[in-house]
Amino acid sequence: MQIDLRGKDLITFDDWSKGEIETVLETSKYYKILRATHQIVEPLKHKTLFMIFFEQSTRTRNSMEAAMTQLGGHAHDLTPSKMQLSHGESAKDTAIVLSRMGEGIAIRNCFYNIGNKYLNEIARWANIPVISMQDDVYHPLQVIADLMTIQEYYGKDLRGLKVAVVWAYATSHAKPLSVPQSQILMFPRYGMHVAVAHPPEFPLQKEIVEKARKNAEENGGKIEFVGDMAEAVKDADIVIPKNWGGFAYFDEWVDDEEHFNEMKANLERHKDWKLTEEIFALAKKDAKIMHALPADRGKEVVDELLDGPHSIIYDEAENRLHTAKAVLALTMGGRP
Ligand code: CP
Repeated sequence: MQIDLRGKDLITFDDWSKGEIETVLETSKYYKILRATHQIVEPLKHKTLFMIFFEQSTRTRNSMEAAMTQLGGHAHDLTPSKMQLSHGESAKDTAIVLSRMGEGIAIRNCFYNIGNKYLNEIARWANIPVISMQDDVYHPLQVIADLMTIQEYYGKDLRGLKVAVVWAYATSHAKPLSVPQSQILMFPRYGMHVAVAHPPEFPLQKEIVEKARKNAEENGGKIEFVGDMAEAVKDADIVIPKNWGGFAYFDEWVDDEEHFNEMKANLERHKDWKLTEEIFALAKKDAKIMHALPADRGKEVVDELLDGPHSIIYDEAENRLHTAKAVLALTMGGRP
């Protein structure tokens, strides 16, 4: 099935139908084959994507820019400091002006309680597709690459597959909630059994958890929250060890030193939340390890696992390119 997605925003796949997601997955496979067979297809020739990064990125920035180049178009690699939004220019003016000059706007803004609102405000005023490159709530471009990768290993019928989404210790930075939240929303829609484990001070957002439970109920999936990493990993087919910040622990998150200090103190109490070979041995014999990357090696998960035969992290990262092409070509494309 192919659904016309021209002009559609992508802030979260949770408001895209299964048919629309299937269209992206099928198109991603097509672009993967084109690349493997050295074929050039340029549906976005002379088209422009404005990419605004409020934070650092390796995979998202480069998959999106490479995707635009390989599809015949161009991506502007922007940061707030290159734009007047650093002087307070409104989302409305930014969105309308960029809509007059190009064919797509992509934004990464992960500031907690700010990013998703900013993306939606841009989408409200833009009349070209607005694509999330990750916000504080969702990371759609990551979860679609995850889904593609899982289907490559396990086939299209994912019912009953057990995925452990487990919080893990990290010190590099307070990672957004958006990767695990997008995973717990998406995977139960495909009938997967998602087991989540995290320390009490590192919850996911309540409304996302409620929606994930609803998605599971409506699609024959399952989501459960268990007390520790080992319990979640037991008999899992896929294990995803991943840090996220304790933003949702606070009644109201305030971006100040006091809150960050409390979050850091909470973090230091849970250094032992690391995926080790001993814990991974509880998973199924041929279980896979996934990680959106960047990983805090030796803290979230030991190198022996990330670099070992069960790891599919680089397939997952590569699929960011193929899925980015599909999303861009389908939403930004027009009839010749
Ligand atoms: N997984 C991911 O989004 O990576 P980057 O932060 O490098 O884009």
